[in-house]
Amino acid sequence: MILVTGGAGFIGANFVLDWLAHVDEAVINVDVLTYAGNRENLASLTGDDRHIFIKGDIADSTLISGLLAQYRPRAIINFAAESHVDRSIHGPEDFIQTNIVGTFRLLEAVRAYWNNLQTEPRQQFRFLHVSTDEVYGSLSKDEPAFTETNRYEPNSPYSASKAASDHLVRAYHHTYCLPVLTTNCSNNYGPYHFPEKLIPLMIVNALADKSLPVYGDGQQIRDWLYVKDHCSAIRRVLEAGRLGEVYNVGGWNEKPNLDIVHTVCALLDELRPRPDNKSYREQISYVTDRPGHDRRYAIDASKIERELGWKPAETFDTGIRKTVQWYLENQEWVANVQSGSYREWVEKNYSGRVA
Ligand code: NAD
Ligand code: DAU
Repeated sequence: MILVTGGAGFIGANFVLDWLAHVDEAVINVDVLTYAGNRENLASLTGDDRHIFIKGDIADSTLISGLLAQYRPRAIINFAAESHVDRSIHGPEDFIQTNIVGTFRLLEAVRAYWNNLQTEPRQQFRFLHVSTDEVYGSLSKDEPAFTETNRYEPNSPYSASKAASDHLVRAYHHTYCLPVLTTNCSNNYGPYHFPEKLIPLMIVNALADKSLPVYGDGQQIRDWLYVKDHCSAIRRVLEAGRLGEVYNVGGWNEKPNLDIVHTVCALLDELRPRPDNKSYREQISYVTDRPGHDRRYAIDASKIERELGWKPAETFDTGIRKTVQWYLENQEWVANVQSGSYREWVEKNYSGRVA
């Protein structure tokens, strides 16, 4: 079996669902269930004994060591993290605790477990760390996309904490020969995306007749990948990635934020027109920019394609249509995640931004 951390969050839950659909191998899913963790994301696995959910923290060494001893996984995939840049600006401490201390404690428990394995399982074992393109910093308009050899230049508390975790993972390979793999992926979108992030926030706000808050001039560029393509890349790296290597994962889909918002509006205009037949674009509002906002991210995904033969299956057009349709069909999920603490976050992040 494999052990996944953070498997009740956006990408982790998609990964667990995809894994069990593609590979008939059990998953231990360890998630502390922060505001971003949601067992409803895994509701379709109820009664499936290939999925074992454990509520717990990656920084809890006793718990993690116990689970490793009990279940003896052949691989660990570390998704657990605080993941939202705006939250890291309002309060960085949780990011330091989970992304740095948590990854460190997890690595320590894994190192002890791996050291005591017999020769064959020891050779087969893998620790795959899921990271982000944000560790490379921000690109100007004409610079080439990030490759795996780009210098680390993180600019937010979130990306700095992820960079630190990547360095720890690298060091555990170099120093202790722990069999690690690291993936650095660009912006994901798709089902179960928590509506604090750009795409789900725009869909949810549009449907609720609320404003669509575009930071600054809306010309910041992100490189978008449908979440299920990220999941297939992780499966492929786990299967065939070279030990100690880093693989950048992306969909060659660079788009300015404003284009993304326009696309979401156009799809909603088509699939769920406003009662007054005006476009959802009417709801766009330009608001105060994110402090330290990275201007552009772009991933050069040549290495994973060349070495492992991985390519995304979705184009942005097919992926975004599926995503908008998913939100229209899952209004109950949307209502359930908009709890009191979600509303408090929206108030905290948006009330001080001048339109
Ligand atoms: P998310 O915030 O939706 O989910 C994170 C999950 O981790 C939640 O279920 C949460 O409960 C859990 N978690 C948090 N702290 C924990 C802890 N201490 N112990 C155990 N579980 C804990 O995040 P996501 O968007 O699914 O991102 C998953 C991973 O992928 C993160 O490491 C993130 O840095 C990375 N990543 C995300 C993107 C993206 O576009 N979302 C892109 C590249 C990389
Ligand atoms: O690049 C990978 C990263 O992508 C991941 O590591 C992060 O976990 C993930 O959250 C994401 O980070 P971003 O900051 O790029 O994503 P977010 O959805 O928060 O914002 C995308 C862009 O949209 C960014 O330029 C900020 C802008 N934005 C965001 C929000 C929430 C707005 O203009 N308005 C908004 O309300």
